[in-house]
Amino acid sequence: MPSFYLSKPYQPPEAPKNLPLNQPWALFGGMSPEQFMKRYWHKKPLLVRGAIPAFELAKNNHQEFTSPISASELFKLATDDLVESRLIQSKPWSFQSGPFKKSSIPKVDHQDWTLLLQGMEAHHPAAATLLSWFRFIPDARLDDLMISIAGVGGGVGPHFDSYDVFLIQMSGRRQWQISMQKDLSLNPNLPLKILQHFQVEQEWVLEPGDMLYLPPHIAHDGIALDAGCQTWSVGFRSPSFKELLQEGLWRLAESLEEIPGLEEKFADPKQAASTNPEELPIELIKQLEKKLTGLKLDQIQQFLPGITAYLTEPKQAAYFTGPMMPLSPSQFAQKISSHALLPHPQTRILSLRPNIYCNGELVSRDQTSQIQGAWRTLAAHKALTQKGLQSVEASSLYEAYLSGWLIFQSQ
Ligand code: SIN
Ligand code: CO
Repeated sequence: MPSFYLSKPYQPPEAPKNLPLNQPWALFGGMSPEQFMKRYWHKKPLLVRGAIPAFELAKNNHQEFTSPISASELFKLATDDLVESRLIQSKPWSFQSGPFKKSSIPKVDHQDWTLLLQGMEAHHPAAATLLSWFRFIPDARLDDLMISIAGVGGGVGPHFDSYDVFLIQMSGRRQWQISMQKDLSLNPNLPLKILQHFQVEQEWVLEPGDMLYLPPHIAHDGIALDAGCQTWSVGFRSPSFKELLQEGLWRLAESLEEIPGLEEKFADPKQAASTNPEELPIELIKQLEKKLTGLKLDQIQQFLPGITAYLTEPKQAAYFTGPMMPLSPSQFAQKISSHALLPHPQTRILSLRPNIYCNGELVSRDQTSQIQGAWRTLAAHKALTQKGLQSVEASSLYEAYLSGWLIFQSQ
């Protein structure tokens, strides 16, 4: 190999503030996000060669790009108890959850293992930058960016996921085999969710910069062909209606606390002498029905606040620490006039017009219109600079900064 043939870490470019949704993107092989959503999203697989053209371009210039995160950085993250990690070994299949001791992580040149690291957008800026290119899909659907690193032969076995996933090859090559098979039964004798009968229909070898999109329930198997093979997976979530309704309902039940009229007690001056005292009184049913109709509990608008709050709950593994030396309210107002305030990578923000929810809380409630506007900007652009910010002290914006939910961009 000539000496000029060196690997450099690829740095994904920052996504523009407004993504060009009707323009062709290399990421989708020249399709626009609009076309991709119409033709492929949640419908059928798509293989894109050179989805990140920089890898191919560098190669043509006798340079080589590699993943922005090195194998040793990933191994270090797998020892961190704030990172969700799993180690899967094949031949025979075995599964362990992290955090791991450094000595229990296989060496890169060993075979038949893979390490999976979840939520990497919170641990490396390049992972967060890559994820920001997928913001043409609603934030409520986004789950996280998982990175797998593997030795030759490593993989998680033939399986299916219940979620949409973009599998981006970032280092080394991986062979992907897929199948649209109906039989998704799992092998009951293995510690992992591995298909009993995998019938390969298509297969490709992905090089760095290539991408494979898979909708839910497509059987697939990715086997690392090179030591230190890295695949970055942008994953989405789709909660069940049961989960959404249960979460919405119990939050709705809690919100009844705020309706003073409901403290009123049931009274039955019209109750007649009864021959069936064991039965629930008709009078109680009638009055309850009247209250329920008044509360409009069958209308979707009543459920959406609770469901939105639920969808902004951070992942279980999320961990926030406030600033070591917090700014005073006036210092905060001064700093935000020139420095961007950003959501912490594990912070979730959603809008249910005109309200904004952040990490499970309705943060726009009882705020000045300026603070509400600031939250709307944060929700839409994931960044905020604001001149002349008033009434900071009691604001939910400052509170969120003190809790570590919002952080100033490091210079
Ligand atoms: C991997 O990166 O090895 C597994 C990703 C997947 O199959 O979903
Ligand atoms: Co999968």
